[in-house]
Amino acid sequence: MIINSVSFAIYLLLLYGRSLATINLNKHIRWMIAVIALDTSLILFLVFFRNALSKVNLSMSPLLIIHIIFALSTVVAYVLTLYWGFKIRSGLRQPGLMRRLDRIIVTLRALTLLTSIAVSWFV
Ligand code: HEM
Repeated sequence: MIINSVSFAIYLLLLYGRSLATINLNKHIRWMIAVIALDTSLILFLVFFRNALSKVNLSMSPLLIIHIIFALSTVVAYVLTLYWGFKIRSGLRQPGLMRRLDRIIVTLRALTLLTSIAVSWFV
């Protein structure tokens, strides 16, 4: 439950940080890097201190499998956003790309949170 609350808080920070993009781009970038670092730290904490990997096996529940897929996809989307974000920042023109990545991340991260809550309730 505490982990889900922390995860929800990080999601709120993410929503705030994305709203900064059109107001103050430098602040947006610093904020999003911090959010990505926090979210990655949460995953590393679960892996190293809560033995999350020991729950990964062939008899995992479908819900847990779906949750892991959403969580890993979020990490991949973060890496792509960092890569393209810095490229666009340094002058490359990719109109609309950041907006598409944003939609993907906001959706994937919400689904990660919702499935994590579902796993803690039902599995
Ligand atoms: C979770 C991560 C992130 C989300 C959800 C996000 C979201 C957004 C959104 C909604 C916009 C406005 C797009 C538009 O109105 O066209 C934007 C723009 C932008 N973001 Fe991010 N962002 C994230 C991370 C980053 C990072 C790490 C960087 C690092 C450099 C970055 C750099 C930029 C830049 C340069 C723009 C301007 C895009 C343009 O001019 O086409 N963002 N971002």
